[in-house]
Amino acid sequence: MLTMGPRGTKDILPKDIANWRYIENVIRDTCRLFDYEEIRTPIFEHTELFLRGIGSTTDVVEKEMYTFTDRGDRSITLRPENTAAVVRSYLENKLYAETVPSKLFYIGPMFRYDRPQAGRYRQFHQFGVEAIGAASPMIDAEVILLAVQILNTLGLKDLTLQLNSVGCPTCRKAYRDRLQAFLEEKKEGLCEDCRSRFDRNPMRILDCKNEKCQALTVGAPEIADCLCDDCQTHFTAVQQILTAAEVSFILNPRLVRGLDYYTKTAFEVQYAPLGAQSAVCGGGRYDGLVEECGGKPTPGIGFAIGIERVLLALEKQDLLPKNEPSLDAFVMLLQKGAEVEGMKVVTALRKNGFSAEIDFAGRSLKAQMKQANRQNARYSILLGEDEIKNNIVTIKNMQTGEQKQGTIEDMLTSMKSED
Ligand code: HAM
Repeated sequence: MLTMGPRGTKDILPKDIANWRYIENVIRDTCRLFDYEEIRTPIFEHTELFLRGIGSTTDVVEKEMYTFTDRGDRSITLRPENTAAVVRSYLENKLYAETVPSKLFYIGPMFRYDRPQAGRYRQFHQFGVEAIGAASPMIDAEVILLAVQILNTLGLKDLTLQLNSVGCPTCRKAYRDRLQAFLEEKKEGLCEDCRSRFDRNPMRILDCKNEKCQALTVGAPEIADCLCDDCQTHFTAVQQILTAAEVSFILNPRLVRGLDYYTKTAFEVQYAPLGAQSAVCGGGRYDGLVEECGGKPTPGIGFAIGIERVLLALEKQDLLPKNEPSLDAFVMLLQKGAEVEGMKVVTALRKNGFSAEIDFAGRSLKAQMKQANRQNARYSILLGEDEIKNNIVTIKNMQTGEQKQGTIEDMLTSMKSED
């Protein structure tokens, strides 16, 4: 047990870090182009925030939260997502008094007690964006364009952007009635989850993965037929802007997101080869959430991209950069008692901006050479009996094999001149 992490968690090892940094750099660069600023909120929040924000009848809240009572008898939850927390922070820190809209992004771990499988973990990482304070369809299009630009910059192909409008509470009420009427006599054939969703959250039935439920919902009424004028106009405008920006999308009237705060625009980016975990990105508008969390009525929209899923897609398409290790110099100790001098050399290198490593294990010259090669060292710096006696070093260019001797100063000058 002690040598295994909890189920659904994964170590990100040194060999993986370059890939994470690569994705994070693309994200940060693109957010800068779109003028989104980074926000870092705590990993845990009061449970109440998620109950109110995400909705108490959602799978996330009912089945997937890591909730515990802390030593002060408060109910605390590890964040299963970050939209509610960003809205909480927006209100607590009065970000609405600054630039409007607040355009924020985050990268960090989220926690859901999901059934782990490829692309689905209990601790996973999201990059997310929240634009709070603008009702215009322009901002819906902007956040979608941001997601698309990041995925395109990474070079990903065969992605599909699916778009829907889930309407506002008014049109959703009308839709709910029609959907319930349609499903009424099919109710007994639905899975247990969907039977319980029937009264509480019937739209989620459309999203059920159970084949029987999918068959029973064929021909169900579509939300598109129930949208009020305002929601319809908004949705048309979003589509027009995306079309003008040459972003292709598929209208999916069955796209109902798993969190209750969504209104109007809802979208997902899918990468089919990931199978059941094909959603790489999901988001939408949440015009009621700020008010639900105790603020004035304020519109908002955002999305989150699952970083592990993006990594899987990049791997499948062979798009991850080849990360070769690299080191400027490897300091080799060729005789006992060279440790102090060796540490002096390695320190001088590092102080002068060269990455440098030294042998810590008193290994043979052959073993040290092997390590220098494995780490792609440009130079090896040799410290043997003669060098120590004469207060010099031997510097070997690992590519050309050329060797010369000199003081530490000479070594630095020579390395700088060849930089
Ligand atoms: P979500 O659809 O629940 O939305 O999650 C967004 C993305 O996070 C998913 O598309 C997927 O890529 C990734 N993801 C979710 N669960 C897991 C998991 N267990 N393992 C690995 N990856 C996962 C939200 O979280 C919303 N807060 C998005 C949003 C922001 N809407 C508006 N603003």
